[in-house]
Amino acid sequence: MQLCLALDLASKAENLSLLQKLKDCPIWVKVGLRSFIRDEKKFLEEIKAINPNFKIFLDLKLYDIPNTMKTATQECKNLGVDMITIHASSGIEAMSEVMSVAKDSLLVFAVTALTSFDDEGFIPIYNAPIKSHAKTLALLAQKGNCHGVVCSPHESLEIKNSTSLLTLTPGIRFAENEYGDQKRIATPKVAKEAKADFIVVGRPIYTHHDPLQATLRFLEEIQ
Ligand code: C5P
Repeated sequence: MQLCLALDLASKAENLSLLQKLKDCPIWVKVGLRSFIRDEKKFLEEIKAINPNFKIFLDLKLYDIPNTMKTATQECKNLGVDMITIHASSGIEAMSEVMSVAKDSLLVFAVTALTSFDDEGFIPIYNAPIKSHAKTLALLAQKGNCHGVVCSPHESLEIKNSTSLLTLTPGIRFAENEYGDQKRIATPKVAKEAKADFIVVGRPIYTHHDPLQATLRFLEEIQ
């Protein structure tokens, strides 16, 4: 299992100074909407300058018509990143187009249900409970040839048992951490038991008074 650190801080300088403290840690680095919109391609280069071995996960959660998804995936590939996210609800045709470009040189994870949803917020939009809908979307992602799906640790095991997909689980917290806007949270130990291949952690590390200590604790927990 791999740990992805979400670089979601308020400025590029803060993100880079956080990463400097963790430069020898065996982590993936997640660049999401906030950081990529603000700091663009240059930020990816600066991450690699800190440690060329950092793998970069560009988490833009693409959702559009198949041709736009395909061409956007090509642009992600041109950036040299290692992993991207798309939405499984973009459909099999769009996912297949993405995978025709990504092939085996860019990992593609399809989002099932965001971990900030609980059933109360989810059902009015999708007309189904999270657990069953996440599995339905995972089966679609498998048909679309994606490498994996994004889900919570609470859905991961069932998806792993019914597909050959990798799973990536955000919403990871130790008991004493605040939830923030996340609703379907779990500890790293639960994520490991649910056979998640990647966990994504942001605030529990970057708001910690000692981010290195927090990172090492997460890494130890997922050994
Ligand atoms: O701070 P926290 O640990 O909640 O950060 C989780 C990260 O994972 C955020 O960057 C968020 O955008 C991302 N994410 C998520 N749920 C998903 C997909 C990505 O929380 N389904």
